[in-house]
Amino acid sequence: MNALVNGAAAQRCADWPALAGAVRGCIACPELAATRRTVVAGTAPAGAALLLIGEAPGAAEDASGVPFVGRSGALLDRLLAEVGLDRAAVAVANVVKCRPPGNRRPTPAEVQRCRPWLTRQLELVEPVLTVLLGGTALSWVFGRPAQVGRMRGRPHVVDGRRYLASYHPSAAIRFGPNGAPLASLRSDLALAAQLLTALSS
Ligand code: URA
Ligand code: SF4
Repeated sequence: MNALVNGAAAQRCADWPALAGAVRGCIACPELAATRRTVVAGTAPAGAALLLIGEAPGAAEDASGVPFVGRSGALLDRLLAEVGLDRAAVAVANVVKCRPPGNRRPTPAEVQRCRPWLTRQLELVEPVLTVLLGGTALSWVFGRPAQVGRMRGRPHVVDGRRYLASYHPSAAIRFGPNGAPLASLRSDLALAAQLLTALSS
């Protein structure tokens, strides 16, 4: 199966549950399909105004089938709560839906093969705002390598959709409690909350 086949399959999905069912059967990436325990399709509460996009499932997500439930997810939940955003009302997806072995970065080929699923997820949610967590998600939207440090802190509109870029929670953990990525992620999520309030009033 290639990206074209995925694209047709993804476009046929009329809603998020249908897409989640279809993506669970995807075997387009032979290595990932052979090593994964679950396919982490993502979560989308009805009427979600905010979509978060990460990179790929880690071990905890692969085990549970739910995005951002490991250490990165715990930090994310805490920061969302701090800025008054309820994780249960937020849609969450990843650039690739299957865990790369050993938590390596997804390859460009894997990102390309998985692209139609996330493209369709964006169409199905039509969020008011999307926050891109880390360089993989940022580059996915811009279609070229892009640096979080240069793009964060202000909204971008791509193909008519509004985005904010920030660091991945794993970077915030790696650089520690006094590191710049945590402070940036916190302020970017606060900005997301402000924008959502402004845009829905
Ligand atoms: N990191 C991600 O990018 N996504 C997850 O779902 C978990 C960790
Ligand atoms: Fe399919 Fe995406 Fe998983 Fe690759 S990463 S097998 S394209 S669902």
